[in-house]
Amino acid sequence: MGLKKAKLSLHTESAQNAARQAQIRWLIRRDMDEVLTIERSSFEFPWTEEEFLCCLRQRNCIGTVAELDHEIVGFMIYELHQSMLRILNFSVSPNIRRQGIGTQMVQRLVDKLSQQRRREIVLEVRETNLNAQLFFANSGFRALSVLRNHYDDTMEDAYYMRYSLNGNGGNFAEGNRLSEYDAA
Ligand SMILES: CC(C)(COP(=O)(O)OP(=O)(O)OC[C@H]1O[C@@H](n2cnc3c(N)ncnc32)[C@H](O)[C@@H]1OP(=O)(O)O)[C@@H](O)C(=O)NCCC(=O)NCCS
Repeated sequence: MGLKKAKLSLHTESAQNAARQAQIRWLIRRDMDEVLTIERSSFEFPWTEEEFLCCLRQRNCIGTVAELDHEIVGFMIYELHQSMLRILNFSVSPNIRRQGIGTQMVQRLVDKLSQQRRREIVLEVRETNLNAQLFFANSGFRALSVLRNHYDDTMEDAYYMRYSLNGNGGNFAEGNRLSEYDAA
C-alpha cells in the first residue's frame, strides 16, 4: 500500500533535484490566458476557453496551476468522485518539461488521496501520446484497459490508466492491442 507512494516520492526527490519547487495553487479566472497558451502549445486538439469554463463550473471539478517565479508553467483539471480523482486535462509548458513539474503536480494529487479517503486517480491517455504514457507509468500509474475509438476528433483509442493507493494497479485486460502485438 505505502510502497507505490514511497516509489513516487523517491522519484519526486530525484526530479526536484534538477528543478525548483513549483508553487501549486487553485486556478482562477485571470489565469486562463496563460493556461490556454500552454494548452494550445501542447495538444493537437486543444480545449477551447469555453470548454475549460464549462468544466470548471461543475461543482466536482477542480483546476490547479503550477507557478515558477509567479509564471504559470503547468495546469491540471480534475474531477472529484466518491472514491477516486479523475484527471481530465493536464499539461506543462513545453520549455519547462522534464524538470519535475508534472511529477510535483501528480504528487499533490496523490497527497490528496490519503487526506480525502479516495483511493485512486484515473485518466485516459491517447494511444499516440507515448510521452504521457511514460510519464504516468513512471509516476506509478498502470494501464488497465483500452477504450476503443474513444475520441470524437480522431480514430484513436485511449489507454485507461490508474494510480491506486492500494498498491495494485491491476492487470491490463486480456485481449487488448498490446497482447495482440505480443502474440504476433
Ligand atoms: C506529460 C507531462 C505533463 C509531463 O510533465 P513533465 O513536467 O515534463 O514531467 P516530469 O519532468 O515530472 O517527468 C518525470 C518523469 O516522467 C518520465 N517522462 C516525462 N516525460 C517524458 C518523455 N517525454 N519521454 C519519456 N519519459 C518521460 C521520465 O521518467 C521523467 O523523469 P526524467 O526526466 O528524470 O527521465 C508533459 O510532458 C506534458 O505537458 N505533455 C503534453 C500534454 C500531455 O500529454 N498531457 C497529458 C494528457 S493525458
